[in-house]
Amino acid sequence: MCRLTLTMATSSPPHPKKARIVTSTTSIQKQTNTDDATTMSDEPDEVYIASTSASLAQYQSTHATSIRDTAAYWSDLATSKLEWFAPYPPGSVLTGNFLDGSVSWFAGGKLNVCYNAVDRYCLAPYNRGQETAIIWEGDEPNNVKHITYLELQNNVCRIANALKAIGVKKGDVVTLYMPMVPELAMTMLACARIGAVHSVIFAGFSADAIADRIQDAKSKWVVTASVGARGGRSLPLKSICDAAIKKNQCLGIVEKVLVFDGHGANGSDWVQEADVDMNVHVKFTELVECQRPVCSCEWMDAEDPLFILYTSGSTGRPKGLVHTTGGYALYAMHTTATSFGLTQQTGPSNPNAPHKDVYACVADAGWITGHTYIVYGPLLNGISTFMFESTPMYPDCGRYWDMVQRHKITVFYTAPTAIRSLMRFGDDAPKKYDLSSLKVLGTVGEPINPAAWKWYYDVIGNGRCAVVDTYWQTETGGHIITNLPGVTPMKPGSCTLPCYGIEVVVLDAATGKEIESSPAEGVLAIKQPWPGMARTCLGDHQRYLNVYMKPYPGYYFAGDGCRRDEDGFFWITGRVDDVINVSGHRIGTAEVESALVAHPAVAQAAVVGIPHEIKGTGICCFTTLANGFPESDALIKELSQSVRTRIGPFATPDMIILTPALPMTRSGKIMRRILRKIAAGELDTLGDTTTLLDPSVVGELSAKVEKLR
Ligand code: WT7
Repeated sequence: MCRLTLTMATSSPPHPKKARIVTSTTSIQKQTNTDDATTMSDEPDEVYIASTSASLAQYQSTHATSIRDTAAYWSDLATSKLEWFAPYPPGSVLTGNFLDGSVSWFAGGKLNVCYNAVDRYCLAPYNRGQETAIIWEGDEPNNVKHITYLELQNNVCRIANALKAIGVKKGDVVTLYMPMVPELAMTMLACARIGAVHSVIFAGFSADAIADRIQDAKSKWVVTASVGARGGRSLPLKSICDAAIKKNQCLGIVEKVLVFDGHGANGSDWVQEADVDMNVHVKFTELVECQRPVCSCEWMDAEDPLFILYTSGSTGRPKGLVHTTGGYALYAMHTTATSFGLTQQTGPSNPNAPHKDVYACVADAGWITGHTYIVYGPLLNGISTFMFESTPMYPDCGRYWDMVQRHKITVFYTAPTAIRSLMRFGDDAPKKYDLSSLKVLGTVGEPINPAAWKWYYDVIGNGRCAVVDTYWQTETGGHIITNLPGVTPMKPGSCTLPCYGIEVVVLDAATGKEIESSPAEGVLAIKQPWPGMARTCLGDHQRYLNVYMKPYPGYYFAGDGCRRDEDGFFWITGRVDDVINVSGHRIGTAEVESALVAHPAVAQAAVVGIPHEIKGTGICCFTTLANGFPESDALIKELSQSVRTRIGPFATPDMIILTPALPMTRSGKIMRRILRKIAAGELDTLGDTTTLLDPSVVGELSAKVEKLR
């Protein structure tokens, strides 16, 4: 049984005491400390109880109900939280299953996500038109905008009309390659309004990556910005986008590019010869300003696509996951409210709930975190959402905490990598600011190590705030495992217990059998469909089935390993496929390898993750060179550049090792398992190396890795 520390996160100041979880399914018992130390160690088994046994019991009972008759659970919420233009037929709440990958939710029901996220809050009974929908803070801290729901509605309508004016129709894919400006969220909502499907590409991706995505989605329409601003630097987004649409794979696809030019840009990027040649560019602001601020909402079927988001897999090119309208909206809305303990529980049945939270997710809207927890989730709940254009380090490492103080942020959501990098600078920066507005601190993207968790909890939260460790994926649409503030006890490093409506199981990786007892270790899978799940991979349903549904028939396979402890709490142990998670960015090792072998000097490449203090996992590349290419530092730089060009700067390798040979089996397979161990310096647990063609490469490679460390 684990050693527990008890603090009541709802009351200040912190008084750590020992507590003990009695069973995984009944209640939490608090125990006053009698014996050993109560100070918070880095031991992962401490428990912070921010709840009462009553609230945990309530969670357990609601969770049990939500998976016993999951269709009934979600149908109640769909009618009480969303507004429908036409109801779904009673039999269509949930149809299909994981076996044949035919899941659908609320099909036949008609609604519009933009209407639910924006318009309804401008109308009775909500009447929140004058309340803030978006707080935007630009790269420079003094550049702040507050946008009300009414202003948001007007702007979204204008952009929607502008999209129509260039020819965008219901069902068309619109690619967005934009900085973190309010117009990005507005354009996403404008697409939703007219039934266009947005495909947002994170502004850190390269021209090659954009081109692949435009081609895959056959996206005729692109919205970009002349430049973006980050950390005092200007990013030439339009030039990168132009380079993309001129690539072979995009020729003849793109018809118009709307270029947002209202971001303090000096316009230098605008007039280029290429514009004349391509004749595709239209100035965003000019076109939008002359549109009418009224545009009716398209009636969308609950199963019509809302957006595509590309993510990396273990093989091949990134896949475009398709999220649909009704289920995604409901799931985004519900998980935002529950996971962050929003004080306001909105819905037609409760229109006048007080509006108290200042909610800030400081991710980028280009990833699923931004889609669900910056744009859709908060706005669907009628609260204000924060959009942050800059970085945690600009102008200095106190930027986040300065924002918390100035905006009186109550819910703050970031990634472990950001916490780790800020932690390095010590406690002085956060201590300079008044962080007393904070109530809930969230983390996402990768497992959080207990030391970072505790720093977040103690130094940022002053021992008063719940730290919610939200586990989920691009594919899941929203959180699937997380503690609920004030409800679930917290164990640093554990994402704790499943969200409502999510039936999580641990499968034996080899046999695929459910492991029912705890503790258990295996792969994480989900047993029943939930509304927020992605429905397919764009243009390749077979790939969707192969990756998620086929590995363990009857289950959704997440691709992560996990442990369930004796209290039933989940601990994610990391990807079990060839996907690595670098600072919460998902990167397929195959993508990095193909970027490397595209260089003429490279004969073979094998890429593995390597433990990294700040990023969680770094990228380690082993390459053999083609005949005649000598090893050199210059070549290493070129190879690194090749990866940046093919994918983007966030995928820059941390280590490139040139080697005469890779560990191969006699049948010619690269043994990545061994490379992972070499990269991590775990030579004593190499395992069986007798099947290697030439076991001596192990020693040579380890020596090279050691030198680079
Ligand atoms: C992968 C999904 C979810 C939005 C950001 C990343 C890892 C995510 C956690 C967490 C441990 C986590 C998993 C997952 N992951 N959150 N709280 N604890 N691991 O989305 O790019 O689709 O990546 O990120 O490995 O499969 P994504």
